[in-house]
Amino acid sequence: MKIKVLVVGCGDRATVYCHEGVDNLKQMQVVAAVDPNPERLRYMRENFGVAKNMCFDNIEDVLAIGKIADAVINGTMDSLHLATAVPFLKQGYHMLLEKPLVNNKADLLHLKSVAEQNNVKLMTCHVLRYAPFYRKVKELIASGTIGKVQNIQTSERVGAYHSSVSYVRGKWASEAECGSSLLLAKCCHDLDLICWLNNTTTPVEVYSNGDRTYFTVQNAPVGSGTRCLVDCPETVRKNCIYEAEAMYIKNTVLPWYPWQCTGKNWQDVTEEEKYESLKTNNPHGRCVFKCGGDLLDHQNVVVRFGNGSTANHMVLLGAMKPTRTIFVSGTEGEIEGDPSGELIVRKFDKNTDFFTEEKIAFDDKQGETGGHYGGDRGLVADFIDYLCGKTPSISCTDIADSINGHLTVFAADKSVKADKPVTIDYKADDHE
Ligand SMILES: NC(=O)c1ccc[n+]([C@@H]2O[C@H](COP(=O)([O-])OP(=O)(O)OC[C@H]3O[C@@H](n4cnc5c(N)ncnc54)[C@H](O)[C@@H]3O)[C@@H](O)[C@H]2O)c1
Repeated sequence: MKIKVLVVGCGDRATVYCHEGVDNLKQMQVVAAVDPNPERLRYMRENFGVAKNMCFDNIEDVLAIGKIADAVINGTMDSLHLATAVPFLKQGYHMLLEKPLVNNKADLLHLKSVAEQNNVKLMTCHVLRYAPFYRKVKELIASGTIGKVQNIQTSERVGAYHSSVSYVRGKWASEAECGSSLLLAKCCHDLDLICWLNNTTTPVEVYSNGDRTYFTVQNAPVGSGTRCLVDCPETVRKNCIYEAEAMYIKNTVLPWYPWQCTGKNWQDVTEEEKYESLKTNNPHGRCVFKCGGDLLDHQNVVVRFGNGSTANHMVLLGAMKPTRTIFVSGTEGEIEGDPSGELIVRKFDKNTDFFTEEKIAFDDKQGETGGHYGGDRGLVADFIDYLCGKTPSISCTDIADSINGHLTVFAADKSVKADKPVTIDYKADDHE
């Protein structure tokens, strides 16, 4: 049996999920698509055989014809999630909704209650829960291998390229414009992992600090211009990590992001058009230090849980080597590793030098360049299973188990501004 999906927001993420469901898992059929960009609708017709009369440039027209699929894959940008999710949930569609679900507590709890009232399954795209690495960590904790969790430490060092193309020059560069802070856009995954791994309890208090100290005009190289290929001297450019030609034309990491502003599918943009775009109106052509974004470029979060356990997360933009790490300390053992390398499980042992060590290799080296360490496919497979009535997997990102990470992010960002710990009280009484 194939599940029928309607895709709302046919951009990068939604089409990744469609390729997984249609081409790789062969358990999904895309029956309709909504996107104001005609190029994206063309992509849906050509890649998934969506009929021309089932392509819509706005959600109202498809809502007007009633329920036409089992589920919606909602891959719109962050600030559109609530408005493009609620009407479909009310019409009885199940939904796979991109993260961040929304950007404040009141909207999050509203979204959850709409899904519950309409008896529909709402999963979010916390793809890392499905990466074999993190799933193994979860299984080890759930099986009691390391005893009771005392502390979880995670870090995310976002590589220079990804930092620049997404959070400094890119579409998440400004919280004021896109609605998401750095922690919400990048680390709602990590805070979700922490809360999911430790979900025999709930987060109760958060303290966070952070700043933007690197991507500032004061750090622009002496003599630099405002647009790399227009007014920045060659002598300056050649020593700049973030120089646009090397970063976006010569590199091929995350190749779709720099050219989205052209309105064309990135594969169709010619080299000549790329140069012209970087020289004129492409935001990625601007000096990385003079973009004027408002996101923090590093942040620390400390979480206290109801059972007394704690967690720490650190995120940093501009790392040389993109990496996520985790260390879980339990009463009878510990787990350490990074998802593109190996997982180490240590257990107390009286007969050796105090502990034994088991190493488990994870060979998915895709890291930040795609696939989320294998999580994308696992998420889609689980969504299909969940819709087909199978028992949800240990990773299942149903909204009921996905709100704690988001609430922790909201509290952390509030804490940065207030410079004091913030209590998570679960009341829908504010929009912060
Ligand atoms: N799960 C993850 O790891 C992950 C990774 C990257 C991005 N994301 C999230 O996925 C979401 C989409 O990101 P993306 O990079 O795919 O964005 P995108 O810009 O590639 O796709 C968004 C699409 O929505 C369309 N759109 C705009 N207004 C619309 C409307 N009113 N109705 C329907 N469609 C509309 C746009 O034309 C575009 O095609 C974001 O919320 C982002 O934060 C998640």
